[in-house]
Amino acid sequence: MAIRPLIAGNWKMNGLRADAIALAGGIVKNIEDGGAAPCDMLVCPPFPHLQAVSGALAGSAVAVGGQDCHNADAGAHTGDVSAVMLQDAGCSCCIVGHSERRADHDEDDAVVRAKATAVHQEGLIAIICVGETLAQRDAGTTLQIVETQLRGSLPEGAEAENTVIAYEPVWAIGTGRTPSLEQVGEVHDHIRSVLAGITENGEAVRILYGGSMNPGNARDILALANVNGGLVGGASLKIDDFCAIVRSCG
Ligand code: PGA
Repeated sequence: MAIRPLIAGNWKMNGLRADAIALAGGIVKNIEDGGAAPCDMLVCPPFPHLQAVSGALAGSAVAVGGQDCHNADAGAHTGDVSAVMLQDAGCSCCIVGHSERRADHDEDDAVVRAKATAVHQEGLIAIICVGETLAQRDAGTTLQIVETQLRGSLPEGAEAENTVIAYEPVWAIGTGRTPSLEQVGEVHDHIRSVLAGITENGEAVRILYGGSMNPGNARDILALANVNGGLVGGASLKIDDFCAIVRSCG
């Protein structure tokens, strides 16, 4: 059975509340005007805007997710947010292990795994990010690095219903540079084969590509065999660009 693609927007730390509401409302209107979308859709706003965006998207086909969470349910963790809070704010998914979290907050695979476990415990879908740096790509260790991150970050019980993998080469994020289609295909094929060995239904797990995806390159990337959608940063802040990427799945 074909995997239904997912296009997820990662808004990162951008926009005030009114911007978030306008962006969410604009996406819904654009999608509804264009007819049934050829994929599932998700946006991940900054934490303070979750409730407002959930409201703006209520009744639409666009889901809401968090960009990160703590692995504990509650407690003395200043500045953190738990998976149950995300669920309470209307989220169905949460990104974990984004390279910006791994780099800015020293999150290693064990931390990412603990967060993904917490996401699963609340019945949410974990979008687990992996990807090599430019130095690792140049050293020829991309497949090894990605496989190690995958094996280390995936929790027990990960399966197609509760887990999405996002392959995001660190050097492609926000840079306008993307790997060649061959390079994307090679990594996605490798992720698929690793997943087949460690999860129940690894052949059905969605594997997203992320890193400078835009309306110009999305169709070719999304046409690759083991690319089942995109995790979109910069282009997800523009209504027309995000919606054009959504339409590129069809
Ligand atoms: P980008 O970000 O599309 O701006 O490169 C992608 C991401 O970091 O998820």
